Amino acid sequence: MRRDYNLIRYAGNKRKIVPKILSFISELNVDKVLDGFSGSTAVSQALKNDGYVVGSNYIAVYSKVFGECFLLNRTPQSFFAPLIEELNSLTGIDGWFTEHYGGYDMNGSSVQEDNKKRPFQIHNTKRIDAIREKIDSFYPDDCIEKSVLITSLILAVDKVSNDMGHQVSYLKTWTKKSANDIILEVPNFKIDNLNHKVYQKTIFDIKDKYDLVYVDPPYGTSNKKTPTSRVRYQSYYHIWTTICLNDKPNTVGVANRRYDASSDTIKSSISEFEDLDLKYVENSFIKMIDQFKDSYILISYNNRSKVTIDKLFEIFDKRINNHISFGYKENAQTNAVSNSKYKIVHKEPLKEHLFLLNPA
Ligand SMILES: C[S@@+](CC[C@H](N)C(=O)[O-])C[C@H]1O[C@@H](n2cnc3c(N)ncnc32)[C@H](O)[C@@H]1O
Repeated sequence: MRRDYNLIRYAGNKRKIVPKILSFISELNVDKVLDGFSGSTAVSQALKNDGYVVGSNYIAVYSKVFGECFLLNRTPQSFFAPLIEELNSLTGIDGWFTEHYGGYDMNGSSVQEDNKKRPFQIHNTKRIDAIREKIDSFYPDDCIEKSVLITSLILAVDKVSNDMGHQVSYLKTWTKKSANDIILEVPNFKIDNLNHKVYQKTIFDIKDKYDLVYVDPPYGTSNKKTPTSRVRYQSYYHIWTTICLNDKPNTVGVANRRYDASSDTIKSSISEFEDLDLKYVENSFIKMIDQFKDSYILISYNNRSKVTIDKLFEIFDKRINNHISFGYKENAQTNAVSNSKYKIVHKEPLKEHLFLLNPA
């Protein structure tokens, strides 16, 4: 059965709490909602399907591409079906993706002769190379139809990726699914005639007015043993960026990350909410809620994040209209920390918090 919407696997995505988010918003008299940190677009897609006029914003290009596909596209599925069929029928070619990310099956291992692991089996990177070039020949310039095809490619590639939920390190052994062929499907978008918008900006540059702004910033970590292990999303999903841009960038490190997403020293790869300096992150919250002082704001955050929940109560103060917290499943990465030097035993169970703020 096809789901209501299509999503990549994405650290911190809010698919599971979408019903809670929608129920908070449905209590209010709002029409226009901004998803300020849209990531996988889980929340943007759900808001659109519920009839809101949606703004979807995110700093990375892949989220803009998903937003164009799921929010802005007005071309029916029947137009894309033959294009997708043609893309699926292509013979693989050796190209940039194969050179950087394609690996052979070394008796079950993904470690290649250069001692590096690869995220895809080589028959699949050859398909990525052929399909991505063909998409550029269908549409040399950026357009919404091109975004639909690239979304379809990323969704298919995500299904065979040999990673741990992010693209900073890859699995040592090929999984069964990594041997499957990449097969594109027409994305499951719904067409409406509402005036949705898609931005690729930092939240601080959004000037349009919305009745409610949903903010789901990167959480960072309060784990003092691993201050640098905070999630840097630009780096976590660098392959999606490269599939969108098809710009054959220089790469660095064991995971062959894009040079521009690889290091803390590159400003564009770090968010104001992922900074190591706690004061700076707290000030980013203050600045953000002040920026949307005329709107309701709904914020999700958890109790293991960079800023403490007590501090958020202090920052949000008189604007708080409602607040709930609930237990949340630990993500795979937290459980994957096996080195006792970095592992911390938490006194409190993991809890997700939702704060609803009134206009000031
Ligand atoms: C917790 S994730 C959002 C997940 C999203 N709600 C979903 O369901 O997939 C936080 C996202 O905010 C993005 N981000 C970080 N700083 C940002 C900024 N200043 N403006 C907009 N987005 C930002 C990060 O790249 C990251 O993907």
